[in-house]
Amino acid sequence: MNDYFSELGREVLAQWKARNFSLAAFPNIARNLLEARPPSEHVDLDALMRDFLLNDEQPLQTQSGFGQPELVVFSDPRFYIQILFWLEGTTAIHQHEFSGAFHVLAGSSIHSLFDFENVQPVSAHLRVGDVRLRETQLLETGSTVEIISGGGYIHSLFHLDTPSLTVVVRTQSDPGTGPQFNFLPPHMAVDPFHSDDLTMRRKQLLDVLETTESGAYAELVCEMVATLDFERGFFILQNAMGHLKNTGDWDAVLAAFSKKHRRLADYVVPTLEGIIRKDIISGLRGSVTDVDHRFFLALLLNLPDRKGILRLVKQRFGGDPVQTVLRWAAELGEATGHEAWILDAAFPPEVKVPAGRHAAVFLAALGHFLKGAKGPVRAGAVKLTAADTRHLREAFGQSSLRTLLH
Ligand SMILES: [Fe+2]
Repeated sequence: MNDYFSELGREVLAQWKARNFSLAAFPNIARNLLEARPPSEHVDLDALMRDFLLNDEQPLQTQSGFGQPELVVFSDPRFYIQILFWLEGTTAIHQHEFSGAFHVLAGSSIHSLFDFENVQPVSAHLRVGDVRLRETQLLETGSTVEIISGGGYIHSLFHLDTPSLTVVVRTQSDPGTGPQFNFLPPHMAVDPFHSDDLTMRRKQLLDVLETTESGAYAELVCEMVATLDFERGFFILQNAMGHLKNTGDWDAVLAAFSKKHRRLADYVVPTLEGIIRKDIISGLRGSVTDVDHRFFLALLLNLPDRKGILRLVKQRFGGDPVQTVLRWAAELGEATGHEAWILDAAFPPEVKVPAGRHAAVFLAALGHFLKGAKGPVRAGAVKLTAADTRHLREAFGQSSLRTLLH
């Protein structure tokens, strides 16, 4: 047992009891107590881990798969305190069926808050609407944030350091505030705890057909999405999308889905594209080791436009954020005799400049777009046309760097 968390738990219990265990009062009580004696300043983490490993007298642990891992450091029938370790960067965009407050014990995170508007429930486990980013902030060690249950508080955390540690003081569960939806921008919300066993098995069976390169795969998926309900059809599409794009059958399958679901289907394509884009940047992030480069990729993953990205770059590094981003782009660039890349953006072949100048022109173009400059790109002595500039913009627009254009 850790003395700090035993005391914190007892104090939370006393103050909450004085408020008759009001759910509305809990987040504020939790935040005030975390801020009054911040864990980041008062917890000896090495001692806590040693105690957890060697002393059997610990609060009841759970089967939770949340965190990497989760340690319960105080437990009460009404609420508990957990420490969450995070080894990977990202949490899904989600809402909560519990309330309280979290505190950054170690590391730092990009914290994004969202609204879900024009909501249209489709089934008990799936909704469509518009997921809109409301605000993004950089949370440094020592920050404390309230958690409110239900659909009014939707957020995601992207942890920048490994490991990042969070302390959460939270209720066990707030009845009536579920399901704990995950949000897939720009248009969908799904219940991650809903398990549709038949769909799971069907996806697994389709994976078998994919692995064995069955010629019947595309036709079967086409027939399925032409008859399945929207929820099941969406999950089958999501599962089959990668393979169908490789085999060239994606458009036909999507047409069958659209014919069946008409206007509802319009929510699906941008959402699936959003998932692909996120996967690509996450994949790039897996192969990039430099801490600053990983921060840059985290910004590309989490922010919708260059204004927001440049603001956070300036907040963390000071100086001229455009020059900082251009330096990272140069460091992440690759050039051969005939090709130049910045991350997954390829220099467009339509732009006719000497191959030796590709990398420099590409960077100059990125600088041009980052500054929101008008007219054709200028790259030293190299003169580019309006058409060249359009091709360069398109090259970035099709890559993970696209948010820097907006
Ligand atoms: Fe959360």
